[in-house]
Amino acid sequence: MSTTPRLDSLPAGIRTPFDYEALAHARLAPEARDYIEDHAGDGVTRRANRAAWDALPLWPRVLRSTEARDLSIELLGRRWPTPLLVAPMALQRLAHPDGELATALAAAMQGVGMVLSQQTSVALSTVAAAVRDEPGRGPLWFQLSLLQDRGAMLELVRRVEAAGYEALVLTVDATLRAPRPLALPADVRAVELPADAAFHPAPGWDDVAWLRGQTLLPLLLKGILHPADAREAERSGVAGLIVSNHGGRILDGAPATAAALPRVADALGGRLPLLADGGLRCGADVLKALALGANAVLLGRPVLHGLATAGAAGAAHLLRLVQDELALALGQCGVSAAAGATAELVDPSHA
Ligand code: FNR
Repeated sequence: MSTTPRLDSLPAGIRTPFDYEALAHARLAPEARDYIEDHAGDGVTRRANRAAWDALPLWPRVLRSTEARDLSIELLGRRWPTPLLVAPMALQRLAHPDGELATALAAAMQGVGMVLSQQTSVALSTVAAAVRDEPGRGPLWFQLSLLQDRGAMLELVRRVEAAGYEALVLTVDATLRAPRPLALPADVRAVELPADAAFHPAPGWDDVAWLRGQTLLPLLLKGILHPADAREAERSGVAGLIVSNHGGRILDGAPATAAALPRVADALGGRLPLLADGGLRCGADVLKALALGANAVLLGRPVLHGLATAGAAGAAHLLRLVQDELALALGQCGVSAAAGATAELVDPSHA
């Protein structure tokens, strides 16, 4: 692939991040589209994610002289250009032949973080080498699910460390999932997993402690919804939490992210970095999540819609649109820094 995404190759008429969904669906093979849009059960939680962001109003403050807006945030001891990361998503070569490499380049170009899935379809070393030294990039993290074979797990962690990833994200909400057959094209597979790798069917907090003891990298947990689990996670010594229902792909009936996030934020009291994903589609959604207590957010399917539409250029443009909208919404709400979004924006009784 060419390493410089060409923005002049984009379809005409794209105004908002939402426009990419239909464009992507028109281009994707039906199986790939079904995999990306997949949801558990009847799709209740997936719809709830969107409905909850839509239903949450922003309460703007006016006349606050917010001409300059600063999107930068601090996470795990470093300052980053934006509060956005790309969520870990498996097998991105289903969406576009350039797969995770294109996504990572697009993210780096836009100062957005990248969380590479353990089920990546491009080698983890290739992705890291392409963006590691890019000035102005966002965080570069790697997502893990626990494997039954601890030896195989450790071998993978060592390769992740050697490639330069800066944190590990352990996904804890997807160990049990309804079987769903996925017929992969011959040239797309999870290249970092041994063919016979079995996921741990029933991990516990002792497994988190074990993994934490094996690496110096910060370990975040992804898939926390219950405030009691947030408190347990804090006791376990992890470096941060991601409030997530996996985009509604695992437990149908789980709460919308927008419902869980303020409760988890309350339980943590700002003592740990807090991220969130699920149904976030536009700059206003991102601002709502920041106001509910997230330090940063992850975008899932929208990035694949950009990727499927126009490769790295599409993903980069999608991420640009969301950031431009975020900067605009911040100004319109009278907030001059993403890190300064507080609960008064979503609940006027907090003012
Ligand atoms: C995912 N997600 C996911 N999560 C994870 O921890 N490891 C993974 O390998 C995957 N794979 C994956 C594939 C696809 C196609 C999708 C859409 C999602 C979940 C993902 O990280 C994130 O939690 C949700 O996608 C966020 O919701 P939205 O933004 O897609 O609504």
